[in-house]
Amino acid sequence: MKFNQSNIKKAKKYLDKNNCIAVPTETVYGLAANAYSNIAVKKIFKLKKRPKNNPLIVHYSNIDDLKKDCLINDNFIKLHKKFSPGPLTYVLKLKKNSKISKYVTNNQKNLAARFPNHRVFRNLLQKLDYPLAAPSANISTKLSSVQALDVKEEFGSKIKYILDGGKCNIGLESTIINLTSKPTILRLGGLNIEKIEKILNKKITININPKKIITSGQSRLHYSPGIPLKINVTKPKKEDAFLLIKKRRITLSNYYYLSKKNDLNEVAKNLYSYLRKIKKKGYKSIAVEKIPNKGMGKAINDRLNRASKY
Ligand code: TXA
Ligand code: MG
Repeated sequence: MKFNQSNIKKAKKYLDKNNCIAVPTETVYGLAANAYSNIAVKKIFKLKKRPKNNPLIVHYSNIDDLKKDCLINDNFIKLHKKFSPGPLTYVLKLKKNSKISKYVTNNQKNLAARFPNHRVFRNLLQKLDYPLAAPSANISTKLSSVQALDVKEEFGSKIKYILDGGKCNIGLESTIINLTSKPTILRLGGLNIEKIEKILNKKITININPKKIITSGQSRLHYSPGIPLKINVTKPKKEDAFLLIKKRRITLSNYYYLSKKNDLNEVAKNLYSYLRKIKKKGYKSIAVEKIPNKGMGKAINDRLNRASKY
C-alpha cells in the first residue's frame, strides 16, 4: 500500500475536530476517535450501535504516552518488549489523573490498551497529541472489516473518512490479556497464547467464556456473517458455500479455499473477507471444514464457534 502523507493529514484534521474515522491496523480496521474527548468517544458508540457498557480499546504509539494514563507492571514490560507493536491488547489499571474519557471504559477503573503495528496507523498516531479509542469498524455483533471496502459496506455515508491502509495482514482481532491481577486471557486473537506463556514462563488462565461477560467478544452472538454457519463439516449440503483449508483432488461445486496448504495464518487473513463475499454472492448457508485447534487455529475456531451461534 502506498504511503500517502496527505491522507494522514486529512485523517488528523477529522480527528482533531472530534470526528470518528476508520483506520487500518494489522488485525482489523478500527473506528477511531480521540480517547480524551467525551464528544468524540460518544460518536463511536452511536455509529457502531454499541452498548454503552462495552468498553473500547485505546491505541498508543509508545509506552511513555501509555504511562500518562495507566499503571504498568513487570508482566506488561516483559510482554511489551517482545510483542508490541503488535496484535496484543493489555488490560491495565487506569491512573487516577488519566485523561481517558469515562465513556471509553464505562466508568471502570481498567483500560484495554494496544500498540498497533501498521505503518499508516502508527504514522498517524505519532502526529496526534491524544491516543485513539478504536473498536473494530463494524456494526455491533457483525463481521469485522479487513479492508476499506468492508468499512464502506458497514457504515455507508455515515462514516466521514476511511484511511485506506490496504488489506489487514493478520485478519483477526488482537489477543486480550488482563494484567491487573494474575495474567488471564480474555480473548483469543492474532497473537498465539503459547508465545505469551513462553515469555511469562508459565501457563496462563484462559477466561474467554465467563458467566459474567466482561468482553463483548465473549458474548455468544458475535462475528456474525448474517447467515447460518456450520463448523467441522465433512459433507456439505448442496446449497452450502463450503470453505476449505487444504487442496482437494475432487472438484466440488460451491467451494472456496481459505488456504490451499493448510496455512492457518492465511486462513485467518482470509476468513472475514470470504464470509462477507459468500454472503454477498447470495448463499443461504456456510459450511466450514474442520480447522486444527492449534496455534492460530484456536482463535479461528473461537470466531467460527461464535459465528455458528447465529
Ligand atoms: O485488534 C483489535 O483489537 C481491534 C483493532 C481495531 O485494534 N479492536 C477491537 O476492538 O477488536 P473491539 O471493540 O471490537 O473489541 C475489543 C474488546 C471488546 O470485546 C471489549 O469488551 C474488550 O475488548 N475490552 C475493552 N476494554 C476492556 C477492559 N477494560 N476490560 C476488559 N475487556 C475490555
Ligand atoms: Mg469487535
